[in-house]
Amino acid sequence: MADFVVVANRLPVDKRVEPDGSTTWKRAPGGLVTALTPTLASHSGAWVGWSGAPDSSDNPQIDGIDIRSVPLSSDEIADYYEGFANSTLWPLYHDLLVEPVFDHDWWTTYVDVNKRFAQAAAEAADTGATVWVHDYQLQLVPALLRELRPDLRIGFFLHIPFPSYELFARLPWRAELLRGLLGADLIGFHLPGGAENFLTLVRRVLRLEASCDPVGVRDGLGTIRDGARTVRVGSFPISVDAAAVAEQASAMTERAAEIRAELGDPTTILLGVDRLDYTKGIDVRLNALDALFRDGRLDPASTVLVQLASPSRENVDSYIKVRNRIEQSVAHINGTHGTVMNPPVRYLLKPVPRDELLAYFLAADVMLVTPLRDGMNLVAKEYAACRADLGGALVLSEFTGAATEMDRAYLVNPYDPQSVQDVVARAVTDDPESRRARMSALHQQVLDFDVDLWSRSFLQCLSGAAAANEAVDNEAGR
Ligand code: ADP
Ligand code: F6P
Repeated sequence: MADFVVVANRLPVDKRVEPDGSTTWKRAPGGLVTALTPTLASHSGAWVGWSGAPDSSDNPQIDGIDIRSVPLSSDEIADYYEGFANSTLWPLYHDLLVEPVFDHDWWTTYVDVNKRFAQAAAEAADTGATVWVHDYQLQLVPALLRELRPDLRIGFFLHIPFPSYELFARLPWRAELLRGLLGADLIGFHLPGGAENFLTLVRRVLRLEASCDPVGVRDGLGTIRDGARTVRVGSFPISVDAAAVAEQASAMTERAAEIRAELGDPTTILLGVDRLDYTKGIDVRLNALDALFRDGRLDPASTVLVQLASPSRENVDSYIKVRNRIEQSVAHINGTHGTVMNPPVRYLLKPVPRDELLAYFLAADVMLVTPLRDGMNLVAKEYAACRADLGGALVLSEFTGAATEMDRAYLVNPYDPQSVQDVVARAVTDDPESRRARMSALHQQVLDFDVDLWSRSFLQCLSGAAAANEAVDNEAGR
């Protein structure tokens, strides 16, 4: 039994099939795993999640973490993951960039799958354990788990934006989702705005008393009175393991030089690194590049854009469409502005190994992070962490969570094509001193506010919030 349990849609492990047909498991390189590894290692830790494949129930032990796999059938993957999570909630929470689908069968499967995650967490957790539930795929788990195990300390963190009343209230299941979250002692969002939206919704939809007081500051808390319990609500901007990223990157300088040479030694390397998602604004930067070449503001003979895209949610219609749009745009730019030997856009649709990715970050003169909406965007923080050399420049969309902290980036409004062109051109041509001063501030920012601070501050707040509820329970003899 574990005294610290993480519940997330994904397990922190990747399954590999070796050449001889045998399977091995490796720790996944994601930020959440890195952030929680120290806590998992210092406790008897367990991780409840889905392997990413249909009907898989392997439970590999990795780095002392007790892996508890929640198997999903192909139908459940279609209705819960591709359906309700990624065709209903994802677009609704990302400002309706595509139209969300409201399907009652998907909702039923979402409820069933959330029940299975809650059951698995209840079975993994020791008496009085701390359980940290993550993200929009599992918003019903806190209440379901509290019903099964009232002794647990339960925290919930949302990794994507949380929408305004007007958007969220469209959901036929709005009250159920809010009730699901209120099973937690602490509910965390990246930004104060998300926390404020949640408090407003609880007040207006559930008619509960919700105070907004100092939510507007880092780690400030709002409170919701739900019967005898008090649920705390706050903002905790996630980050990366900046010191480790910087150290890993420092070993990649030779490879970065090789990459520049392999690209034909261009004057300017622009870089995009994203999951292939319509929220990421990959087409925004491609359109800007096309216009900058067309207007002669950038020279296609000496400028290369490397776009590294990782395939994502490939069965979902809106993802198929954005992939087609991007690939058409890449072909258009290369066909119009390039030569056979020198295409200005180099596009890859597969995940890049971590070391190689850091070498690309080091090689890039300008990093383009142009989402139309993003809860945080860790790529921006990873890039700033890598650039201990204070080289490079970050173009960052104002519609990312990261922009609220990284205000020394070249901030851009991705909805204004002219502004994107101007800001990209400026980041390329700005004088070296001001580029260095900006990168110095960004690099320091990610070192000062790293992922360890994020997880420690969340868990500390959770401990205080849960202790207050336990004291009330004890007094009432519950
Ligand atoms: P999201 O969580 O929406 O995918 P983030 O920017 O917050 O977006 O995190 C994405 C993570 O995936 C980062 O750690 C980034 O380095 C990694 N990543 C994104 N694209 C690639 C890629 N093409 N190859 C390898 N890793 C990638
Ligand atoms: O950051 C949002 C998120 O959905 C995470 O929950 C997830 O780890 C990541 O994006 C990748 O998405 P998926 O698990 O759908 O591949």
